[in-house]
Amino acid sequence: MHREVLVSMFVCICNAITDKQIRKAAKAGARDLWALQEQLGVATNCGSCSQDALAIIEETQKNSRPSRFPQPVLYTPATSRA
Ligand code: FES
Repeated sequence: MHREVLVSMFVCICNAITDKQIRKAAKAGARDLWALQEQLGVATNCGSCSQDALAIIEETQKNSRPSRFPQPVLYTPATSRA
């Protein structure tokens, strides 16, 4: 029997923020370090975690499936075109 063990690790030691928290924020829309800093406080002290945090964002974006709901296409009526 295969049993999956989910383990979190601290990425930002200064602020006690785990990879799981960063992944969750990335899935919820955090796209860059600024967003992570604002939402979680990652890399707001010594900054040594910033590259790892960015790598987790990139990995999460790469592994996330495209949305089931496509982005809306803006319609421009012919009368308003120049
Ligand atoms: S380890 Fe993240 S700010 Fe220091």
